[in-house]
Amino acid sequence: MHIETRDIDLVIAVARGAGDLVRRMYASGQATVREKSSEIDLVTAADVAAEGFIRSALDRLYPGVALWGEESNQPPAQTLYWLVDPIDGTTNFAHNVAYCAVNIALQDGLTTLLAVTYHLGLDCTYYAQPGGGAYLRTARGEERRLQTSATTSLRKSLLITGFPYHRAESTDNNAAEFAYFMPRTACVRNFGAAALDLAHVAQGAADAYWEGWLNPWDIAAGALLVREAGGRVTTYGGREWTLRDNHIIASNGLPALHDALLAGIRTARTPLTETRLDING
Ligand code: IPD
Ligand code: CA
Ligand code: CA
Repeated sequence: MHIETRDIDLVIAVARGAGDLVRRMYASGQATVREKSSEIDLVTAADVAAEGFIRSALDRLYPGVALWGEESNQPPAQTLYWLVDPIDGTTNFAHNVAYCAVNIALQDGLTTLLAVTYHLGLDCTYYAQPGGGAYLRTARGEERRLQTSATTSLRKSLLITGFPYHRAESTDNNAAEFAYFMPRTACVRNFGAAALDLAHVAQGAADAYWEGWLNPWDIAAGALLVREAGGRVTTYGGREWTLRDNHIIASNGLPALHDALLAGIRTARTPLTETRLDING
């Protein structure tokens, strides 16, 4: 599928529409919260409603393109599909913390053709297409091209990470990696929305992000944002990241920093007895 400027505008409008819906639902008390896989893995009525809204809007605009959304979670039978996280950062959303996003990627198999990450708190959108660069568009329609940071030193770098919902049940929960990087960097932040974490690397606000145990809808759009902004996105083992990988290191792309991240992850993970996270390659 060939993406034109009009398509970018349309998909951004869909993401913003979903954003308006969830903000309205929150304000009117309709975003009722329930537990998903555990008592700390939450979903709200707004997550479900936003996915429904995005599905009907995209179906109307692009009939024939499938949709794989987090809440309905039916992997598509065809290669061309929308990959949707209706609210990334649901824990933040449920607590009225304005760091959460509507995340939409258009996939042709493993290739992301369009990335749209709409920041619910700031009412701005990050978007990218392969070879076209990554951009931030404000609510007023102003745009700027995104560029990753120039930091080469691990010591001076600001990193972002996140922790899996099964953190109490497994020692492979990012505690070792966090403990390694926290004293060796400017600091490590845990903001709570993988999509926006990657957008922050793309815009050069953070120097890198790593996390494990993710789903494709968390990171497909952000991986393209980072790459199009000049960054590098790999597995923990250093292979170029693909949609099949559930863990990610996204950096500003400068070899000194990316190599230091790979080395740190390797060192931190060596003593872990549970190695269910496949980091080979
Ligand atoms: C979560 C967020 C969080 C990350 C979790 C994700 P959700 O997505 O991206 O930052 O640490 O692993 O599952 O549940 O808010 O859509
Ligand atoms: Ca998510
Ligand atoms: Ca979600």
